[in-house]
This record gives sequence, C-alpha cells and structure tokens, in this order.
Amino acid sequence: MVGLSHLAFRESVKRYLPEDAKVIWPTEMLSSFKLPNQKLNDASFLLKGEYEENMVPQILGNEEEPIRKSIKILKDWGAVGIDINMGCPVKKALKHNYGVSLMGDPGYAAEVTSMAVKASDLPVSVKFRAGIQKDESVLIDFVRGIESAGAKWVTLHPRTSAQKRRGRSDWSQIEFIKQKLSIPVIGNGDVQTKDCFKKMREETGCDQVMIGRALTARPWLLWQIGEELGFKPPKDFQGKEAPSTRQEEGEAFKEHLLFMIPLLFKHYDEVEALKKFRFYLRISHPWLEFGHQLIRLAAKCFSEEDCFSMVENFFSGPQRMSKTTLGAQ
Ligand SMILES: Cc1cc2nc3c(=O)[nH]c(=O)nc-3n(C[C@H](O)[C@H](O)[C@H](O)COP(=O)(O)O)c2cc1C
Repeated sequence: MVGLSHLAFRESVKRYLPEDAKVIWPTEMLSSFKLPNQKLNDASFLLKGEYEENMVPQILGNEEEPIRKSIKILKDWGAVGIDINMGCPVKKALKHNYGVSLMGDPGYAAEVTSMAVKASDLPVSVKFRAGIQKDESVLIDFVRGIESAGAKWVTLHPRTSAQKRRGRSDWSQIEFIKQKLSIPVIGNGDVQTKDCFKKMREETGCDQVMIGRALTARPWLLWQIGEELGFKPPKDFQGKEAPSTRQEEGEAFKEHLLFMIPLLFKHYDEVEALKKFRFYLRISHPWLEFGHQLIRLAAKCFSEEDCFSMVENFFSGPQRMSKTTLGAQ
C-alpha cells in the first residue's frame, strides 16, 4: 500500500507474526516506468531488511520493456514473485491505461500479464477490483484471460473503481471468481478481525486472505488469527495471549507506535519519517476511540522525540480500540 507497506511498518508487523506462520509481504506500489531509471541505493521505497523473505513487490505498468526491466531489477533485489496492479483507481491510472483501467480491456490485461510472465521465472500474480463497473461477464473475461496468460494467483478487492475505498466490499464477487478459476484466489476487503477472516474464508471459499488497513491499527491481528488456527505465539510474545479486549488493544496500539517510531527515523530521513508517521495515523486512527485527535497532534511533531512524547501523552489515560469501523462507513 502506497505510503504504508514500508520497511518500518513491515518490521513492526513481523513482530506479531506467529513463529511458525508464513505470509507474503508486499512493498509499496512501484511504477515500472520509473523503476529502471532510479538510483536503487537511494530509493527509500525499495528498502528491505536483510532477513526479509517472501517479498512480492507490486508494479504498475502496461508496456513490455519497462515491465521486463523492472522485474529483472526486482528479482536481483530479492523478490520471490511479482504482483501487477490492476486495481489502482486514481485519475492518472485511468488516463494512462494502467491500474484498474486494464480491467476495461480484458484482452490487453492478459497481454500485460503475459509480458510479466515472459520477463522472468518468478511467479506473477495480479491484484484487481470488482471492475470499472459491476459487470460479471467482463469480470469473467478478465480473470480467465489473466489465468490463461500465466498468472499464478490473483487477489480481488471487490469494490468497483468508482467506489474507491467507500461503501462495503462485495465478498460475493470473491466467491464468484473462485468458482471460475483453478488458480488460488486471495480475498481482500474489510477484514478487520479474526471473525471477519474466518467469515471471508467460509463465505467465499478463498484460498488466502489479504489484510490492508486494519493491519495498521491492529498488527497483532496476525497473532489473533494464528491463535485461532493453532499457531505458536510470535517469538517476542512466547507464553502470552494476543491482546483481545478493547483496553488491551488500545494499550497494544501505544506500544506498537512506540516500537515503530524509532524504526521510521532509523530507516528514513526526518522529513520522510514524519510524513510517514502522520500518514500512518491518518489510516489507523479510526479504530481508536479518540483517534482523530492524533492527526492534529501529529501535525505538531517535528522530531522523533516529539513523536515519542506525543504518543506517551496521548496514551497517558486509557484509550480503547473499536473492534471494527464498518458501522461508521
Ligand atoms: C493508503 C492506501 C494505499 C493503498 N495502496 C495500494 C496499492 O499501492 N496497491 C494496491 O493493490 N492496493 C492499494 N491499496 C488498497 C488495499 O491494498 C486494499 O485493497 C484495500 O484497502 C481494501 O482492503 P482493506 O479493507 O483490508 O484495507 C491501498 C489502500 C490504502 C488505504
């Protein structure tokens, strides 16, 4: 996720991953048009921890040469797979015929997939939406096309392009494509609790689940789901149980922020660290009872110390976390 899936966040989330569990790690979205011309050592969005594994970066693009060059760079960088973005709904993507625009032309979307498949031996996946409009016949052409072109798995965020991230995601679309495809389907959209995770798997039959925004507020969701599935606790939390009450989760959010702040300032310069910190709170705050105040307070932070004391002060009284924000949407 742009502005979120960076190294400091991945390191903070990893802390909550059950010891014997494995996940696929994304990067921030990378433009295949820019990547080949960038100085990789200076590219903060490509920062990766030496121990990081199972990285599947996501690229945006629609032309063979840039896609081929980007995949080569990413393979050397350590990618174990490549995801192609066919869901980005911003105006620029619509204008330049990449991101979700490709869903309007299933034949060309399959060609783009095929360009990536031919570029290397890494598995290629595609992440997309319910469509530009909700039209099941176009969706079938689209998914069958990318499957035939060699995609090894797909991820569906079932909102239309116009919905952006508003309204509710329509999980029936995940079930619909799961029935049509033989490659694995990852379901995505509005999974905020371990119960949502279970419900999505039961209702849609999806093979895996991708969690986005809720992980910024509740990174220990991986631990909570792990408990449910019988995994061991994360290494740093042996013998403990995942936070579960609203108070415990509020306390855990404080601890998580205090863990992530030094990582932001270690990996990025002060300007970028502050930008990332403020943006992080914009996405994660709705789960916290008085979280909106964090946005105003973060705007007044100009150093690592400021961020630290702001969080300490804000959480000096008990802060409770909501189970979901779905009722508020
Ligand atoms: C700030 C932000 C940036 C995002 N950037 C991307 C992106 O670069 N690529 C992508 O495929 N999805 C992106 N998404 C969408 C999420 O991956 C996900 O599909 C969507 O938020 C729905 O899932 P969720 O309800 O679990 O968050 C972004 C979402 C947010 C909030």
